[in-house]
Amino acid sequence: MYLFRDLSVWASRVRECRDPRLLASALNHDQQRARLLALATGRPTAISADYLREVEDDAPFLTEVRGKMAQWTPYTPRAVDFMMVGRSGSVFFNEVTLYAIVRALRPAIVVETGGTPGKSTAFILRAMERNGAGHLYTIDLPPAEVEGDKLLRRETYHQQRPAGAGSGWIVPDSLRGRHTTLLGKSSEHLPPLLKTLAHVDIFYHDSDHSYQNMTWEFETAWPRLQPGGLLLSDDVLANSSFFDFCRQHDLVHCNVFNLGAAFARS
Ligand SMILES: C[S@@+](CC[C@H](N)C(=O)[O-])C[C@H]1O[C@@H](n2cnc3c(N)ncnc32)[C@H](O)[C@@H]1O
Repeated sequence: MYLFRDLSVWASRVRECRDPRLLASALNHDQQRARLLALATGRPTAISADYLREVEDDAPFLTEVRGKMAQWTPYTPRAVDFMMVGRSGSVFFNEVTLYAIVRALRPAIVVETGGTPGKSTAFILRAMERNGAGHLYTIDLPPAEVEGDKLLRRETYHQQRPAGAGSGWIVPDSLRGRHTTLLGKSSEHLPPLLKTLAHVDIFYHDSDHSYQNMTWEFETAWPRLQPGGLLLSDDVLANSSFFDFCRQHDLVHCNVFNLGAAFARS
């Protein structure tokens, strides 16, 4: 049913990326992601694949997100934005993965740390909008504002904020209804937030990637994720904190490059 669409997507990627090694690596990452999605959601691979197509073809949403990126950074949309491009990562690979997880699990409460530029926030909120359910709490200590209303390199948007852009500057305003932002460090906001929430369905770490902070966030969020919650983390290859945590708590876990998912054995 989707054969023509998928062939056309890959044809565009091949036109943009002519390196066969990168394309082979991207295919491999797609397969690893299918396994992660099956494990994390407990749903057949075909369902997650449908959700990935749904968001990659979501023209109104992507036009808005990409418009904000082009406004604040030197960005031009490309077909390879959704593909893992070597070890440098990709623009939206992790984000569409998050989208598929939220669509499949239909969480009531998601908590994330690290919210600028706001790609994860935008994709999680779009999935919640489509679900017609859910609320996202984002704890973010935004990067320092720099002079000039446009960053010189797109890759700096995790470390710098263009003048006039707030926390999560990518997030479309129309999606803010299901969103609460807490500005400041996770060490300041996470414990009191978790006290107000009876249960968290998904926790996603993407703030300060030091071993100490990642471990602290995992240990702090984990009790509220039980029973049956999902722990997600970006930058799991930055250090061994994610894998150490999973080993110490005997969790089922897997990762696709930097994105890790873990949950308790049933
Ligand atoms: C990698 S970026 C987050 C990217 C975001 N998840 C996205 O998809 O666009 C890291 C963010 O965490 C913020 N940050 C750094 N240390 C933090 C801390 N201790 N608590 C909360 N946020 C922090 C950074 O300023 C930045 O906004």
